[in-house]
Amino acid sequence: MTDYISINTGLSDVEIYKQLLPQLDALISAEEPAITALANFSAAIYFAFEKISWAGFYLIKDDVLFLGPFQGKPACTVIKIGEGVCGKSAKLRQTVIVEDVEKFPGHIACDPKSRSEIVVPIIQSSELFGVLDVDSRKLASFNADDKFFLEKAVNLLMKKIDFNSIKF
Ligand code: SME
Repeated sequence: MTDYISINTGLSDVEIYKQLLPQLDALISAEEPAITALANFSAAIYFAFEKISWAGFYLIKDDVLFLGPFQGKPACTVIKIGEGVCGKSAKLRQTVIVEDVEKFPGHIACDPKSRSEIVVPIIQSSELFGVLDVDSRKLASFNADDKFFLEKAVNLLMKKIDFNSIKF
C-alpha cells in the first residue's frame, strides 16, 4: 500500500474525486486490520476537499451507531437507528443528502457550524455495518456527484475489507 496521497485541490469536485479514488484504493490493504483502512480512508476524504469539515464512520452494535474512525472535531458517540441524518441513512439503507441541516428535523449537531451533510450506508452481503458521514460548514455542499463518488469509494472498501472483522 501507499501511505500518502497527493491531491490538486484547485480542481472541480468531480476532478478531485477522480484523483482521489485510485489513491483511496491504494491506501486500503486487505492484509491490514480493517480499522486501519477506515482511519486512513476518512483522513484522505477529509483532506482532499476544502469544503469538508468532518469525515468519518459510525459502526453498528446492537442497532445503535457508535463513532468509529474519523477526521475532524470530536463528535457525538452514539446515534440510534432512525435518528439524525446518520440514523436515517442507516434505517433507509440509502444515501441521504441534506442541503441545509437546519431544515432537517432531528439533525444531530455535533458541530454547530455544520451546514450540510451526506451519509452513505455501508452494506456488505445485505448486512448493514454502519455509515460513512461527511459534513460541510457550507450550505448545499453535496450533490449527486458526491453521492456517486462516495458510494464508489465505499464500494472500494467493501471489496477489500471484511466488516465482520471490526464488529464491536
Ligand atoms: N449530524 C449527524 C451526526 C454526526 S456528526 O455530524 C459527525 C446526524 O445528524 O446524524
